Amino acid sequence: MQEVKVVRTLITTFLGIILRSALVSSQSVNDCTFDLKDGEVSTCNLIMDASAFKFESWKTGVGSTFAWLGGPAEDAQENTSGGYVFTSISDMLSTFQQPKKAWMVTSPSNSTGALGRCLQFAHAIGGLGIKSLEVRLLTYDNEDVQEALANDTIPLQYEVTSLWRTKQTTHGDWQKVQLTFSTMQEYSIVFSASPDTRYSNYRGYAAIDDIAFTVGPCDNECMFDLDFCSWANNDTGDNFDWVIGRSSAKRGTGPSRDQTSSLINRIYAGGYAYADSSFPRLPLETAMLVSSAVQPTEKPLCLHFWLNVHGGGVGNVRVLFSPVSSSSKTKELWSIGKGIKSGTDIWYPCQQTIASTEEFRIIFEATVGIPGSGDVGLDTIKITQGSCPSLPPGSSSGWSDCTFLDDTCGWQIPTPDSFDCTFLSRVAGGKYNPAGHTESVYEIADMYMKFDLNCYKNRARDRAAMVSSTLTLDTDVCLSFWVMMYTNVASQTYVGALRVILQYPDKNVTVWRLQNQQHASWTYAQVKVPATPSVKVAIEGLQGPKVMGMIGVDDIAMFPLACSLEPASAMVQPADCTFDHDLCLWKVEASDQGGSSLTKWHLASGEKVLLDHTFYADRGGFAYVESFNTKYTSRLRGPVFPQNQTFCFTFWFTEVYEDFSAKISLIRTSEGKEDVLWSVLQDKIVNPGVSKNNVINWRYAQVPLASHDTDYELVLEGEVMRSAWAIDDFHVIPDRDDCRLEPSYAQP
Ligand SMILES: *[C@@H]1O[C@H](CO)[C@@H](O)[C@H](O)[C@H]1NC(C)=O
Ligand SMILES: *[C@@H]1O[C@H](CO)[C@@H](O)[C@H](O)[C@H]1NC(C)=O
Ligand SMILES: *[C@@H]1O[C@H](CO)[C@@H](O)[C@H](O)[C@H]1NC(C)=O
Ligand SMILES: *[C@@H]1O[C@H](CO)[C@@H](O)[C@H](O)[C@H]1NC(C)=O
Ligand SMILES: *[C@@H]1O[C@H](CO)[C@@H](O)[C@H](O)[C@H]1NC(C)=O
Ligand SMILES: *[C@@H]1O[C@H](CO)[C@@H](O)[C@H](O)[C@H]1NC(C)=O
Repeated sequence: MQEVKVVRTLITTFLGIILRSALVSSQSVNDCTFDLKDGEVSTCNLIMDASAFKFESWKTGVGSTFAWLGGPAEDAQENTSGGYVFTSISDMLSTFQQPKKAWMVTSPSNSTGALGRCLQFAHAIGGLGIKSLEVRLLTYDNEDVQEALANDTIPLQYEVTSLWRTKQTTHGDWQKVQLTFSTMQEYSIVFSASPDTRYSNYRGYAAIDDIAFTVGPCDNECMFDLDFCSWANNDTGDNFDWVIGRSSAKRGTGPSRDQTSSLINRIYAGGYAYADSSFPRLPLETAMLVSSAVQPTEKPLCLHFWLNVHGGGVGNVRVLFSPVSSSSKTKELWSIGKGIKSGTDIWYPCQQTIASTEEFRIIFEATVGIPGSGDVGLDTIKITQGSCPSLPPGSSSGWSDCTFLDDTCGWQIPTPDSFDCTFLSRVAGGKYNPAGHTESVYEIADMYMKFDLNCYKNRARDRAAMVSSTLTLDTDVCLSFWVMMYTNVASQTYVGALRVILQYPDKNVTVWRLQNQQHASWTYAQVKVPATPSVKVAIEGLQGPKVMGMIGVDDIAMFPLACSLEPASAMVQPADCTFDHDLCLWKVEASDQGGSSLTKWHLASGEKVLLDHTFYADRGGFAYVESFNTKYTSRLRGPVFPQNQTFCFTFWFTEVYEDFSAKISLIRTSEGKEDVLWSVLQDKIVNPGVSKNNVINWRYAQVPLASHDTDYELVLEGEVMRSAWAIDDFHVIPDRDDCRLEPSYAQP
């Protein structure tokens, strides 16, 4: 079998090269970089006036005029005088009719042939107001398409199919997309933007640049229409081969058509990889389709593919990770057998994060169940940048992947104690909730986890957590997820907090934290989880004061690479503390002065008149020391700071009650030596705002911590007699050179 196969591969490869080189060299009529010609942005052969399709149109833009006209400040080549096309919400709401989508359409092209086409383009979405940006394949039913386009009395007849869609802002950055498609009919590609009418006063935009079509599938994609692309059958380790299928010859098993054409009515074209279980196959025999070698990945990749498991007797399908170096073992990444309900002739979208520090191959393995009564079709393999939770739910052999589409995938959440409002639950995007993050080619009610800040029963600093099962990690891994955290109330931006806590048997460590107003859109987050025999990951939401707002978490994926923390603002250092529920790693030092628990640093409780600094909420949330007629000194000692690194230590403090002799100091202690770095005597405070009428007057403090020749600790010392000090929001920023001492009167 091997010889025949090699010859076949050679022929198809050779054919592919000839076809590709013959066709790639000539630019497609629809390629466009939107360069300026005689001062005008050239729109190449694109159909810019979408009125024939009864949609709004896109318009041209140039970086240098963005301030007046909108759109991005530079084109996809980072050229501020470069051109692009864009549409903004005002274009889509410009008429007095219903809001409309804006369409830009490529001029009609003949069938792509079996090789298909790779479409590449750059897109940027900025501001608020774009609900989604979509690329659609439009196939014409008109006899003479050019005539119908030219003559408005002839109706255009066509069907559209979604090829790609995003709901995510790129925060104005250009991002490249590539996608493969094929069709037997005359077609156009449509770039379609939809408005989000909630933001009709904003200037959000979607922009497109650098459109290019090439013959054949994009790199890292395979449609199996002509051949196996860079995939190959395993010659040694399995029992039978995958073949290119076009339509099952059996009723009741095997795909009736390939994945792409299954999305379009009346079209039957294209091929797929087929593992046929019929005679002479025996139960448990396997067929392996192996990728070419993939270089180690610096960042995670997402492997997308479609499966058809038609028939009552389908066995298993697995995705295996096979290191090229023979010393490492093949591992299962993904598997179904139980996951998908086998039986129907449906193509299911599947995905799995792939990441590796060594060179590897990916293997698709089909195992025969009941011979002849269950075949496997595999189609439209695509590899994209970035992590993705595995699909369908339950298919991952990994840790805590979850799209929340079907359930919480083993993440434990507190049982709701009543029906009317639950702090943490799985919700669907829709009328009452923003859409989830999971992208789908199907219109589905996407689900995600929501911390409901509107729940009337919650009080400030109430918290709830979703907790993973216990993980054993042989290597460092990266936990990635998407977060949305915002309120629509402009006067109250204290939303609450979200943090990732690693729960070890002997300690809990906060490794990631965001608080208060963020973007009203999903933001990517990641954090490293070090190798360990036993850890649970908790994602904890914390309620701010009463606000109309939400904290959402979606699309969790873990992959075996160490990663830097994202977003940078979620960084947490050991000495950080918001004093919400405890003093974190700060310890009250024993003193022999006597006094009560109030004359030592303690967590403020409900009776205190101040609002805390973190959320401006009552009932505590900061540290406090006070006395009414005896002088006391109390010390709070923090965790160790490493030598040889500079830090900027920031916090908020305030005096409470007038007593000019009250003093608060920050002291560095190392090897028995103490240096006062920062010190405030109440007498020195300019405009002491001693809190009369419960007015809080938190003061900002900033202390440069120069590189020191030994490890050291910090001590915050409060001296009180007829007064009190309050402190909140310790936050340490490493390697910040421009850290000045604040306030200036705190210079010791
Ligand atoms: C920037 O775009 C303008 C207009 O298309 C073009 O003339 C110019 O050469 C471009 N500059 C660079 C550096 O590509
Ligand atoms: C499309 O096909 C028709 C008929 O085969 C041919 O006449 C025409 O030139 C082709 N158009 C393009 C753009 O290749
Ligand atoms: C447009 O189409 C109509 C109906 O098919 C036809 O009567 C008319 O002559 C066409 N107009 C032009 C300018 O071709
Ligand atoms: C083929 O399968 C065998 C057994 O699983 C495996 O050892 C070998 O590495 C595979 N070949 C390739 C090219 O992956
Ligand atoms: C870690 O946090 C959990 C949840 O709050 C708690 O139940 C557990 O006791 C904590 N473990 C340690 C060691 O503090
Ligand atoms: C700290 O810096 C000193 C002098 O530059 C050097 O001798 C020492 O090895 C450094 N220590 C560490 C832990 O990097």
